[in-house]
Amino acid sequence: MPPFLIIAIDGGAAAGKSTTARALSERFHFLHVDTGSYYRALTAEMLRAGLSPADLPAVEAALAALALGTRVESRRALMEVANRVVPDAELRSPAVNAHVSHFAALPSVRSALLAYQRDQAAVARRHGFAGLVMEGRDIGTIIFPDADFRFFLHADPAERARRRAAEGQQDSIAERDRLDSSRKAAPLACPIGAIDIDSTLLDLETVVETVAAPIAARLAA
Ligand code: CDP
Repeated sequence: MPPFLIIAIDGGAAAGKSTTARALSERFHFLHVDTGSYYRALTAEMLRAGLSPADLPAVEAALAALALGTRVESRRALMEVANRVVPDAELRSPAVNAHVSHFAALPSVRSALLAYQRDQAAVARRHGFAGLVMEGRDIGTIIFPDADFRFFLHADPAERARRRAAEGQQDSIAERDRLDSSRKAAPLACPIGAIDIDSTLLDLETVVETVAAPIAARLAA
């Protein structure tokens, strides 16, 4: 029986995490968990309720009332908030892009998602996946520091801005990176011992091959 593998992929905005994670999930039949979409979904809910990250008591009251679930669609784990999956267009709206890093910097928001994220390994096992590939900012440092493989993707800011603009999105990735890297709670950082890949001059196929090779070798061993 092959081992159930946990793969952690961290990196800044538009560093190629989602494309890489999606490719690994297809190739190895892993559940794909994009934790950025979880922070985005919570942000969308907070904005719908008219809450500001500066109003901590109101944010914490809203977090305490959250009922989170998971829907597995194809190989993706989607977060349900009160039985509703926030649509992609809303997750990637300019308002969510502008506010997500402010909500994600709040320790109470992060702890509201901590156990939920770790539980995705059980969701993956229940659904018969061969493993879990989770992408975010603190997966290899906080969520799964003992993951079988930990990768850190980065790329030149200008190249990342070009990629995001090519997706047609209005998104201040440099500002989000600044906020994500400088916050006290679980800042964006390359986990010690992680495999660090600079994708500035690489096409994504090469990045995927670089990440997939040691996983394939482990599974073949
Ligand atoms: O897709 P993109 O790289 O633009 O960002 P994302 O992965 O969707 O993450 C959106 C935001 O969520 C980040 O800028 C962080 O503020 C926050 N985030 C986080 O704090 N921790 C994670 N594990 C994942 C995302």
